[in-house]
Amino acid sequence: MLIRRELPSDAAAVRAVTAAAFTGAQYSAPPIEPDGAPGEATLVGLLRADRCWIPGLAFVACAGDDVVGHVVCTRARVGEHPALVLGPLSVHPDHQQTGVGSALVHTVLGAADASGEPVVVLVGDPGYYSRFGFVPGSSWGIEPGDPALERFFQVRALSAYEPSLRGLFAAPAPFGALEDMADALS
Ligand SMILES: CC(C)(COP(=O)(O)OP(=O)(O)OC[C@H]1O[C@@H](n2cnc3c(N)ncnc32)[C@H](O)[C@@H]1OP(=O)(O)O)[C@@H](O)C(=O)NCCC(=O)NCCS
Repeated sequence: MLIRRELPSDAAAVRAVTAAAFTGAQYSAPPIEPDGAPGEATLVGLLRADRCWIPGLAFVACAGDDVVGHVVCTRARVGEHPALVLGPLSVHPDHQQTGVGSALVHTVLGAADASGEPVVVLVGDPGYYSRFGFVPGSSWGIEPGDPALERFFQVRALSAYEPSLRGLFAAPAPFGALEDMADALS
């Protein structure tokens, strides 16, 4: 398995891996598109088309010519400070439990750190993400806005982190757009 930057030609394979990973996952967003793919598959496309997308922070894991995993960090904010949000993170079910997810997370965190980014935020299972140094947002004075997310809201401080980086987290627009689309369908 090799990890490399996502290329424009990977878009369809990334969508397929995201759909496969989140189908049957414990938590997944409701489908938006007619093929019934979990909302995360739609979200990846919305993020890629948005100004929040940072080409150097999207990675694929490949087994031979096949894309078997994907991770992306996009531009978010904490108060007035730039921040990153990690996700979706996807590993094809046939390749889970073999270290692909861990390799992708370490890769994107290393790239973000090398780019001088101060912090990465995500909403996910602390049982998984704590191994990468993610801690509850409240430990660093970073709030999710929605109290319902508190338990899953985590941050990873990078080398450029400064203690003044506190406040309310704001996700990039596609996350809200996905929720609006789901509401419109329900
Ligand atoms: C979560 C996911 C990315 C992990 O990828 P992976 O390649 O299977 O993970 P790795 O092989 O690197 O790590 C496996 C370890 O993570 C643990 N793990 C995997 N998912 C977990 C979860 N949701 N909660 C807690 N631990 C989890 C495994 O138990 C295993 O632990 P061990 O190393 O102590 O044995 C993958 O299962 C996936 O794509 N799931 C569906 C989509 C999803 O939920 N994405 C994350 C959204 S927050």
